[in-house]
Amino acid sequence: MMTPSDVKATLSFSDGSPSMELPLYKGSVGPDVIDIRKLYGQTGKFTYDPGFLSTASCNSTITYIDGDKGELLYRGYPIEQLAQNCDFLEVCHLLIYGDLPNQEERVKFVKNITYHTMVNEQMQFFLRGFRRDAHPMAVMTGLVGALSAFYHDSTDVHNPQHREIAAHRLIAKMPTLVAMSYKYGVGQPFIYPKNSLSYTGNFMRMMFATPCEDYEPNEVLVRAMDRIFILHADHEQNASTSTVRLCGSSGTNPFAAIAAGVACLWGPAHGGANEAALQMLEDIQRNGGVEKIGEFIKQVKDKNSSVKLMGFGHRVYKNYDPRAKLMRETCHEVLNALGLHDDPLFKLAMALEKIALEDDYFVSRKLYPNVDFYSGIVQRAIGIPVSLFTAIFALARTVGWIAQLNEMIGDPEYKIGRPRQLYVGAAPRQVRPIGER
Ligand code: CMC
Repeated sequence: MMTPSDVKATLSFSDGSPSMELPLYKGSVGPDVIDIRKLYGQTGKFTYDPGFLSTASCNSTITYIDGDKGELLYRGYPIEQLAQNCDFLEVCHLLIYGDLPNQEERVKFVKNITYHTMVNEQMQFFLRGFRRDAHPMAVMTGLVGALSAFYHDSTDVHNPQHREIAAHRLIAKMPTLVAMSYKYGVGQPFIYPKNSLSYTGNFMRMMFATPCEDYEPNEVLVRAMDRIFILHADHEQNASTSTVRLCGSSGTNPFAAIAAGVACLWGPAHGGANEAALQMLEDIQRNGGVEKIGEFIKQVKDKNSSVKLMGFGHRVYKNYDPRAKLMRETCHEVLNALGLHDDPLFKLAMALEKIALEDDYFVSRKLYPNVDFYSGIVQRAIGIPVSLFTAIFALARTVGWIAQLNEMIGDPEYKIGRPRQLYVGAAPRQVRPIGER
């Protein structure tokens, strides 16, 4: 709900054009916004903000980030409390319906999700069209898009029941699809979901069991994976979520809109950073380990090199990413549970973090570890191959995408997204006959 502010902004021009008064709206917490919707109509001018550095693209009730404080709230609840006290499906309920479930609601929600864990058998044949060595994110983009061809009874985005069923289906089927894409890549038979297990226990079984050997879920590892899901579940209007909203704003099929989110997430500046961060740590380790950190940091600081400290920096957090703190804690737990307290990559990551946090380059730019700095080490210890990291991020973020998409479609004020531009190309000119060009 947008609350009008008593304050108004005045926009004036140095060329004597009439000034314009702009209304402000207040959020429940966080910065106010200046409403520029009538700007073009009244002044004939657009605003210019590539990368959306100062632009709120929507109003939302789902997630709040205070980047300076390093605070993340889902529906008002601090991420630390959710990570400590809830499981992923409770967090899904929170994101989709606005609050944590009570006991009865929890049972009903778990049942609804569990009911949808299988995918149409035909999906296997679709999957088999991919090369075995295809990147899991290429496969996931295709598989999630393909859902739109299989589930025709939940694709009317203007029908709230359809939106709800599509949300349930997506949350339920993502673990099945991620595990299928993994099994296909390694040439093992697909393992069907087992609905007596927890959401995350079931995912890990579909990943690691084979028809000849069942998988006994290890509580610490299941809890760690569940925490990875919780920490990645939503993050307000990031690139992939904005992609889902923009794609969905045309009224497209919800599965297709989520596939667009998967495609966007793949990039190394976004979800692909967890894979890139682990590869970076492995490279440093191969080339000399802790001894070589100084040399690596020098490269990162060199403006002529394109080397970045992956897993560091964030558009919104100008403080320690709260998810990174929780991930570091989980990293300790998992490595201890597996007897890997001396894991060289974890030691390297901690040494790298310490040096970076004391270096003026990072301090002055407010660059801190983000969630991806430690999540790769946890996933690797659990046995997840590096190339699957971003697909696991997509699995977790699906609930955020669908909650945001459904919020947008349910908003009576929503319009198709259509940014404008500053055109700097050729002025109007005449086409000359080919012989005269
Ligand atoms: N290593 C070295 N320098 C960096 C880094 C980094 N990881 N991140 C930012 N900088 C520098 C950047 O070069 C710039 O320096 P200068 O002012 O001298 O030109 C300054 O810090 C500001 O950076 P920016 O590129 O303007 O910041 P941004 O908000 O556009 O980019 C980012 C944010 C996340 C894309 C960027 O920090 C980055 O590429 N980090 C590494 C990739 C990464 O870990 N991404 C995961 C983000 S969290 C998970 C998710 O949301 O998907």
